[in-house]
Amino acid sequence: MKIFKKDSENFLSEFAKFLKNEGFIFQSNEIYGGLNGFYDFGPLGVLMKINLKNLWLEDVVFKEKNIYLLDSSLINSEKIFEASGHLENFYDNLIECYDCHLRFKEEEVKDKCPNCSSENISEPKKFNLMFKTQIGALGDQTGYLRPETAQGIFVNFLNVLNSTRAKLPFGIASLGKSFRNEINPRHFIFRLREFEQMELEFFTKPSESDYWFDYWLEKRFKWYLNLGIKEENIKKVEVPKEELPHYSKRNVDIYYKFSFGFQEIEGLANRTDYDLKKHSEFSGKDLRYFDPDSKEKYFPYVIEPSCGVERVIFAFLFDAFDVDSLNGSERIVLRLNPKIAPIKVAVFPLLSNKKELVEMAKQIYEELRTKFVTVYDESGSIGRRYRRQDEIGTPFCLTVDFDSLKNKDVTIRYRDSGFQERVPVKELEEFLKEKIK
Ligand code: GAP
Repeated sequence: MKIFKKDSENFLSEFAKFLKNEGFIFQSNEIYGGLNGFYDFGPLGVLMKINLKNLWLEDVVFKEKNIYLLDSSLINSEKIFEASGHLENFYDNLIECYDCHLRFKEEEVKDKCPNCSSENISEPKKFNLMFKTQIGALGDQTGYLRPETAQGIFVNFLNVLNSTRAKLPFGIASLGKSFRNEINPRHFIFRLREFEQMELEFFTKPSESDYWFDYWLEKRFKWYLNLGIKEENIKKVEVPKEELPHYSKRNVDIYYKFSFGFQEIEGLANRTDYDLKKHSEFSGKDLRYFDPDSKEKYFPYVIEPSCGVERVIFAFLFDAFDVDSLNGSERIVLRLNPKIAPIKVAVFPLLSNKKELVEMAKQIYEELRTKFVTVYDESGSIGRRYRRQDEIGTPFCLTVDFDSLKNKDVTIRYRDSGFQERVPVKELEEFLKEKIK
């Protein structure tokens, strides 16, 4: 693999090539010229996605009390987005260049076209970011692909409340695809037209919403740090009052420092009672909560942590990417937290032409692969096999050598330092469990 560095000018395009070659992320529809704003996840990318989604579920749902899951439809009736305000407010201002005919978001244009520098540009025009579709054989019903998972949660508020008999404070979490017809998708997988969101709508008494806002902000921020994002690369940014979305009382975004600057990877919002009130008004259904303590009915406030799976993966991959020198040669290494790394363990026989080594290595591989995502590799020199695993972030490589045959142990080599130690075969499972947990 060609070595390229984070501070190089064309890092992002080299990184995209690297991630494609390794099987993480592919341009969607590539053999037909590609589809702008859409990406597919390859064998390693999917494993990483699964790991991150599970880690989010663990943090937001399973380690908490009173959080319920919901999986709602991707296509929804126009009425939902009339009520939510998306039809009226979910716009970007678009500027068109009359010479090269490219279109940009207003903030990307400073008096002239960012592509061809022409000053012959349009006034900003409102452009709704939702994908519209026609439903049914007659196509007489308009639907929209959801631009966030949140609305599915609000319109199911009563269903979840009634079926779980939940009491405030409680949350409904959703994880799934969202769609936005972004004017200018960019920065690899940063701004996409189809992406996955992980969202929690946490319902509280209005008087307790500030407390829960801080609770979720701190918790989500720590999640990134605990999983290895470097402190200097992540920060919280308070959104100024005049820039708040139409539904929000307070927003704090979590920003990550990519090569193209600090950018939002997660948003925390106090959505107040805006959505439940609007859906009550538009549907005619009473979505108020009956408080058994005060015997009052009211609309709860909502605290919402929301992030995009692809953006979060991008931040973790970017943060983990490193070039260093080990035993006198340069290597690319992805220093991913073992919990996030797609492959946890690689098993090698020292030599592929020694039957006893191959047999023992294969037997260890067969035992470990049912417990951890494990690969077996016997091709090329042992140094090359280590490098291959370093590049995809595999934290542990186990080698069966001649001493292994006598002592029933293996060498474990650590990805980050190259340090090696011997571990008895019968202790391997416990040893790895301890390291990966
Ligand atoms: N329900 C609130 C909401 O959707 P948002 O700030 O528009 O808020 C939340 O989106 C998160 O979803 C962002 O922080 C980002 O991680 C992700 N996201 C939004 N638009 C995206 C896009 N076009 N491509 C990739 N991820 C996106």
